[in-house]
Amino acid sequence: MTETTTEAYNTGLAAQEGEATAKGSGNAATDRFKTAQVSADTTPERARAIYDDLFAAFRDIINKHQITYEEYNVLKSWLISVGEYGEWPLWLDVFVEHDIEEANYNRHEYSGTKGSIEGPYYIPNSPKIAWDAEMPMRDQDREVTPLIFQGRVTDLEGNAIEGATVELWHADDDGLYSQFAPGIPEWNLRATIVPNENGEYAVKTIQPEPYQIPSDGPTGWFIKSYDGHPWRPAHLHLKVTAPGYRLITTQLYFKGGEWVETDVATAVKPELILDPKKNEETGNNEVVYDFKLDKED
Ligand SMILES: [Fe+2]
Repeated sequence: MTETTTEAYNTGLAAQEGEATAKGSGNAATDRFKTAQVSADTTPERARAIYDDLFAAFRDIINKHQITYEEYNVLKSWLISVGEYGEWPLWLDVFVEHDIEEANYNRHEYSGTKGSIEGPYYIPNSPKIAWDAEMPMRDQDREVTPLIFQGRVTDLEGNAIEGATVELWHADDDGLYSQFAPGIPEWNLRATIVPNENGEYAVKTIQPEPYQIPSDGPTGWFIKSYDGHPWRPAHLHLKVTAPGYRLITTQLYFKGGEWVETDVATAVKPELILDPKKNEETGNNEVVYDFKLDKED
């Protein structure tokens, strides 16, 4: 990567994040994750089998690429920095989670709406809003593109499901998330939508913008080491579920949007691309997306 490009990244980040830094938002994501109680029922046999394959893969890569001692030391130093900057949730969610998500979808014979990665910016228990309400959002002192996001939540046969909920969270028109960037109201652009008795929802929000993942820390150094870019296409994050049905964690993207083809997190799927149309009377962008839920296993 040239110096100019690096500078452009840094300038873009500074403009986007205000006083936020990679270390700041990385640590915020790590601190939140540490409060979650995590465990897995992995047996010692399964753990051993996974480690055996992991080290076999390491061995293959080391031999194939003749990894040098200098590169090994850079790796050690970088791993230490990822921890110090609190960027493990960020790095893993950007570069590893999409494979975990894919493997878990393929393991079952699901045919409902496809999932995608959760990413590091989810906050549970967002305020509940009615099926046709407006997302919590701050007063706009600038021009934004209103978006009417509507559709139905049903079972695989198209029947409305009792107790369904649609959690929606997304970045604002600067590509920033509430609770992860300074100066944004706590629940800005975060809500739990309750569909009506027909499974319908039709909420008003704003069109999000693409954003760069924090790139002034070790995740950014990693990306720069292979001349990559740190951009994610504009997207909506969703968790859709109902009692007795599989929870779908997914993202929806916008047709023709920047970075859709080259998402740094490789989380875009063709089934998850929206194509909003402008309603000339209201000036709003409008789009319909239906969620189909598989039964829980
Ligand atoms: Fe996101």
